[in-house]
Amino acid sequence: MRKNIVAGNWKMNTTVQEGVSLAQEVNALLKDAKTNCDVVICVPFTHLTAVNAVIDQNKLGLGAENCSEHDKGAYTGEVSAQMVASTGANYVILGHSERRQYFGENNEQLATKTRKALDNNLKPIFCVGEVLEERENGTYNDVVSSQLEALFGLSAEDFGKVVIAYEPVWAIGTGKTATADQAQDMHAHIRKVIADKYGKEVADATSILYGGSCKPTNAKELFAKPDVDGGLIGGAALKADSFMGIVEAFN
Ligand code: PGA
Repeated sequence: MRKNIVAGNWKMNTTVQEGVSLAQEVNALLKDAKTNCDVVICVPFTHLTAVNAVIDQNKLGLGAENCSEHDKGAYTGEVSAQMVASTGANYVILGHSERRQYFGENNEQLATKTRKALDNNLKPIFCVGEVLEERENGTYNDVVSSQLEALFGLSAEDFGKVVIAYEPVWAIGTGKTATADQAQDMHAHIRKVIADKYGKEVADATSILYGGSCKPTNAKELFAKPDVDGGLIGGAALKADSFMGIVEAFN
């Protein structure tokens, strides 16, 4: 059966020193904890090597927040999937709405980034989600279906390595969470779209995380829904105790 996963997305927060301390705190809390989910932190590129050195990846997975669609060469400022993997990271967030919105990432680029990630044994956490206007005008299912198409060049075997994160843009960092029913409806829709493309077995094995103002106070209700397999956590991942409060929602 599919895995439950709680993944932190630190975004552009913390210095290396602060990030190492935060990772150490989370690692220490996990050391003796009995958890019913995989726990991952996705951190800025600059932090990966230093964080990898202080965590036990048997307990706490490590990921980047993006990678380049290119392999190497004259792309000043870019970081390749191979570089990310060489730090010891095992995951990479792709297609976060902030990347789509502020850096213009589109399906074609995201299909390439996903390919590069998989070629370097990184597990993509692939984000989808509608903006407020699309929620209000009722096109949200179609919007998310078309975002998922970026993955549909993958073989079933490769698709099986991808984690999906549904993050309604109107809920990110706003304190306005989707209701557990709204999340469940969309997650069921996503699973159906995957089943139509790859079959029920692949769809049932795919972890679909919810993201957007997920906190210790609402995580339990969200994670109780049958198609919600965990969370991608922004703000609440920047404090070890609130992040662990979300991890414990699976206990
Ligand atoms: P948030 O961010 O938890 O701060 O809303 C989630 C995300 O963007 O991944």
